[in-house]
Amino acid sequence: MDRPRRAFAFWQERIAFLAPLTAAAALIVATVPAAAQSMAPPGASTCSGCHGSGASASAPGSAVPALQGQEPEAITAAMQAFRTGRREATVMDRIAKGFTDEETRAIAVWVSQQH
Ligand code: HEC
Repeated sequence: MDRPRRAFAFWQERIAFLAPLTAAAALIVATVPAAAQSMAPPGASTCSGCHGSGASASAPGSAVPALQGQEPEAITAAMQAFRTGRREATVMDRIAKGFTDEETRAIAVWVSQQH
């Protein structure tokens, strides 16, 4: 009778030891996609310095319009208009000139997805 009980205690100890490790592993697995999502394409993180994001997003009617919630196509089109001078700007013409069409598109998709 002694032997099975010892074996039980043996496994009980090991399971108690493994449980926190399993929880830690699950946490790491859950965190990785969130971290990947927050990786901004080059240049994109500078936009929020003026346009804001989340709770600090520009208020409606502000001189710096909010970008979050806008369609990526609208952001891309505005950037192209700024770059070519079709749309008048105080700063965006110069900023838009710093990005290629491809970079602009990647930034537009990313900023439109920020909450
Ligand atoms: C230095 C501050 C500043 C930064 C940095 C900035 N913007 Fe702007 N943005 C503005 C201002 C101000 C306007 C209004 C147009 C103007 O006067 O240039 C504007 C307007 C826009 C608009 C037009 C939005 C609308 O609803 O009419 C888009 C799109 C835009 N910015 C995209 C971007 C993107 C993308 C980035 C990052 C690459 C960026 N902005 C970085 C200040 C900034």
